Amino acid sequence: MEWFEDEALWTGFAEVMFSAGRAAEAEARVSTSPLLRLPAGAPVLDLGCGPGTYTIPLARRGAAVTGVDLSAALLDRAATAASAAGVDIRLVRADMREFVEPDRYDLAISMYTSFGLFADHDQNMRVLRNVLTSLKPGGRALIDLYGKEIAARDGLAPKIVDVDGGTLLVRGTVLDGWTRFRDDFLLVRGGQARTAVVEHALYSAAELKGMLREAGFADVDCFGGFDAEPFDNHARRLIVRGRRG
Ligand SMILES: C[S@@+](CC[C@H](N)C(=O)[O-])C[C@H]1O[C@@H](n2cnc3c(N)ncnc32)[C@H](O)[C@@H]1O
Repeated sequence: MEWFEDEALWTGFAEVMFSAGRAAEAEARVSTSPLLRLPAGAPVLDLGCGPGTYTIPLARRGAAVTGVDLSAALLDRAATAASAAGVDIRLVRADMREFVEPDRYDLAISMYTSFGLFADHDQNMRVLRNVLTSLKPGGRALIDLYGKEIAARDGLAPKIVDVDGGTLLVRGTVLDGWTRFRDDFLLVRGGQARTAVVEHALYSAAELKGMLREAGFADVDCFGGFDAEPFDNHARRLIVRGRRG
């Protein structure tokens, strides 16, 4: 089993990865970000949607959102959150390496480092080609990641974070000559310790832009945050955008 196929990882750490704070941040970004501005009713693909962190705010603002994820447990959470919010979303359980719906979407998003999960570069390229095919001509893809420049600038000192009723220790490690990244999580709560490991590619802006161009995207650009800030020394995220020509 690959690490991302482990349902216990996503459910065991759901409150940490998909916290109320992140949900509020997503809601704010969707309402203010020029990168996420859409006409009402626009079809949007949220690839690796998890519990609907972005799917639901986008639907609330009138987009016709399809959320795709491999985790049945997270899709259940997304469905529950959608009915609580009173919005309609379409949820599909699928592997992003296989999911293709040709010419359907105006926007495809991949948020919170949901891209670059596969150790095999060709599989990550395949995801990009699937996304390109699933976009309408003129449609855009938006990929939001923890990028290599940010990891290098911010350093990798272990972080200790207070979480509801417990403490979380996160330790990041650069792997394979700065091409991959591993996060080790240790959550201590109620006298119990739980561990998890998450691995993903560590792309620089230039590398990720090159991959989008190689996949066939046009007008590839990048940003350092959801206010469309430049990707410079102040960048908080690596956000790469490409258009289907
Ligand atoms: C870091 S989470 C981000 C979730 C969501 N985008 C957010 O912003 O909260 C990564 C998501 O990718 C999903 N995922 C992992 N591997 C996948 C695959 N092969 N196909 C589809 N989804 C996958 C996970 O189940 C998880 O929901």
